Amino acid sequence: MDAETFIQTYAISRKKTDSLKWDALEERYGSADLLPLWVADADFSTDEAVKQSLIKRVSEGAYGYTTRASDYVSSYQGWQNRHEGTKVRPEWLFFSTGVVQSLYDLIACFTEEQDKIMIQPPVYYPFFNSIRDQKRTLVETPLVNNQETYTMDFHQLEMLFQTQDIRLFILCSPHNPLGRVWTKEELVTFFTLCQTYNIRVISDEIHSDLIVFNNQFTSALTVAEELGFSNVIMCNSPSKTFNLAGLLQSHIWIPDETLRATFGEWSKRHRQTEISVLGQVAAKTAYQKSDEWHQAFLKVVEANYLLLKTTLQKELPSVKISPLQGTYLAWLNIEPLLKGETAQEFIQQKAKLAIDYGEWFSPDYRQYIRINLATTPENIEQAINQILLAAKQ
Ligand SMILES: Cc1ncc(COP(=O)(O)O)c(C=O)c1O
Repeated sequence: MDAETFIQTYAISRKKTDSLKWDALEERYGSADLLPLWVADADFSTDEAVKQSLIKRVSEGAYGYTTRASDYVSSYQGWQNRHEGTKVRPEWLFFSTGVVQSLYDLIACFTEEQDKIMIQPPVYYPFFNSIRDQKRTLVETPLVNNQETYTMDFHQLEMLFQTQDIRLFILCSPHNPLGRVWTKEELVTFFTLCQTYNIRVISDEIHSDLIVFNNQFTSALTVAEELGFSNVIMCNSPSKTFNLAGLLQSHIWIPDETLRATFGEWSKRHRQTEISVLGQVAAKTAYQKSDEWHQAFLKVVEANYLLLKTTLQKELPSVKISPLQGTYLAWLNIEPLLKGETAQEFIQQKAKLAIDYGEWFSPDYRQYIRINLATTPENIEQAINQILLAAKQ
């Protein structure tokens, strides 16, 4: 399916559907009069096959407690065999209602108050919250910004591993908001250091199926297995891949038996959640049948990124946009547009957009914004026009 057919078939109006992105603007931004390109979900309906599987399940009328479907993990493994090739086993899986909830749970299970947890800003802001809210100590190893392309600072990382008694590292892979897909070489270097200093890693791989422009994703599980490093836990979910965030279905994969037993014990005491009936049905169907939907969706993301990049390069060349390797999130340095005003003043009052502000991901990135590209080209065009008009004011 080409991008145009995908848009004609699946673009939906989400206004007045209790959509967080479209219907909570007043509450979140203080104004309903903004074009929303913020929270990371997509303005497209799920694949028809997923919709039909949900309709069928809903029409059965039985929504009682549910158990894991016998073919759930095999469906996921089938998807993996056709895509990145990450190897998982059924016994590694714990279900969760979301990756952020999983981070809170894993932190509570594997660390104590005051323990040091490390992250790489600018990074997805719930990483900060999950550490601070639980009274753990935040240690930052900022990514290095080399003309808007970002890399890890392995030298600093090693120095901090040597001196800081880090109990846990939360890796964002692929990286939100920077759109980096860590190469296998980078991950091997990273995990070799973690192995040397025995640092436990949670790898948040929620964006792992959103890889664009021929980049190649490698899971932490793959690298850890090759290195013989077992101190790793991977979180992912069908929610970004197939636009299912509202169905509250996500995965925690723990290959190591001892870590699994520890989390199993902790879960008995603190985490009495059951499986989402509809989340499981939707995810299983999507893993089995939504390859074409997913491929076309990525084409739309690529086209939207190129539209944004080429128009800005032509009309506002001083604005810098980071290369997009993965995620559907564009990261822009808009400093040259700010005439003594904040990014928020420019973006909301002049450009009339609702986006994610750079400062949410790090106080060092106040002049940056993140734009969600998982929408129609018309919305991206409208956003560009509003930015161009704002720049003239
Ligand atoms: C890196 C990352 N982790 C987790 C989430 C949220 O996951 P969930 O909705 O499953 O809690 C997001 C959403 O944008 C994300 O970008």
